[in-house]
Amino acid sequence: MTAAPTTTDGVLVDRYGRVARDLRVSLTDKCNLRCTYCMPAEGLPWLAGPQLLDDDEIVRLIRVAVHRLGVTEVRFTGGEPLIRPGLARIVGAVAALEPRPRISLTTNGIGLDRLAPTLRAAGLDRVNVSLDTLDPARFAALTRRDRHADVLAGMAGAAAAGLAPVKLNAVLMRGVNDDEAPALLRFALAHGYELRFIEQMPLDAQHGWDRSTMVVADEILAALRAEFTLTADPGERGAAPAETWLVDGGPARVGVIASVTRPFCGDCDRTRLTADGQVRNCLFATEESDLRAALRAGADDEELARRWRAAMWGKRAGHGIDDPTFLQPARPMSAIGG
Ligand code: GTP
Ligand code: 5AD
Ligand code: SF4
Repeated sequence: MTAAPTTTDGVLVDRYGRVARDLRVSLTDKCNLRCTYCMPAEGLPWLAGPQLLDDDEIVRLIRVAVHRLGVTEVRFTGGEPLIRPGLARIVGAVAALEPRPRISLTTNGIGLDRLAPTLRAAGLDRVNVSLDTLDPARFAALTRRDRHADVLAGMAGAAAAGLAPVKLNAVLMRGVNDDEAPALLRFALAHGYELRFIEQMPLDAQHGWDRSTMVVADEILAALRAEFTLTADPGERGAAPAETWLVDGGPARVGVIASVTRPFCGDCDRTRLTADGQVRNCLFATEESDLRAALRAGADDEELARRWRAAMWGKRAGHGIDDPTFLQPARPMSAIGG
């Protein structure tokens, strides 16, 4: 075990020796879709305006992470990050930091065709876009909004603007879209996107996750292998959630993010900041550290850094989904940012 951090330690290390260099920042808990595996049709009680960090507060906390805590990657998430009015300004301010972190965005793609050039110019490096189905009617049923064409346009716009690689995220659900794995891969290969399948996690607001029916990595890989040859990716996986394979000899790849059946917590390098300024040391953390209160009470940068280090020190070894005592976090996926 590593020694507990002092106030002057630079990096975000936990008691198991993992170092967090990848910061995921949720910019809003709101979304313009209502995916059935994420949110109820009526939406959720959104965070109120004064609870949200303003743009300058967000940039300040990211600056603390980059300058004092060794963060090298910044990922913007939501809810849906494209609906945050100050997004391009925030990206621009983060891109101006020294050393400049890599900057990415995870989005549902709606409006991305219009925003991609501006975001690219502001300094965004790449995007991940959710696409669970190729069928517009299924999409409308799954997301409760008829926006399939907007999502496809968003991906194309991102690629055209040079936001590369464009990665696609697909969650397969039993009896809904579990027959689409090969077709989704064909689509991704045809467009030059990098597809990843995500095992559904117990993070939905409705608590509807059911392990016995979830579509697991082995099943997805078997469906893909009926049509494609998958071989081990010689590239370094590092801390990435996605395990990847070369498709038909490469260079195209496909990934599976198997949080449930093949957890990757031992290599985790992530720290999270919510839209209301709480540090989460894990996607599944049940405790948070309130940086917004400290910041608004006048804490200086080193005090914010100290609190952030202390929050990360307490990170658990793993998510514990398989433990009999597992408790789903109170905050749903849409308010954490995935
Ligand atoms: P890149 O491949 O570098 O773009 O990153 P990514 O795959 O982590 O990014 P993305 O935001 O697209 O997330 C894809 C899925 O991975 C989402 O369902 C996330 O919730 C999940 N994910 C990301 N980080 C973690 C993590 O630390 N733990 C778990 N269990 N899932 C994660
Ligand atoms: N389990 C797994 N993935 C989820 N996503 C949203 N909710 C869940 C869940 N409960 C996915 C979205 C998006 C990514 C950020 O996380 O589809 O692609
Ligand atoms: Fe890291 Fe927690 Fe995700 Fe595991 S579940 S990989 S510890 S954030």
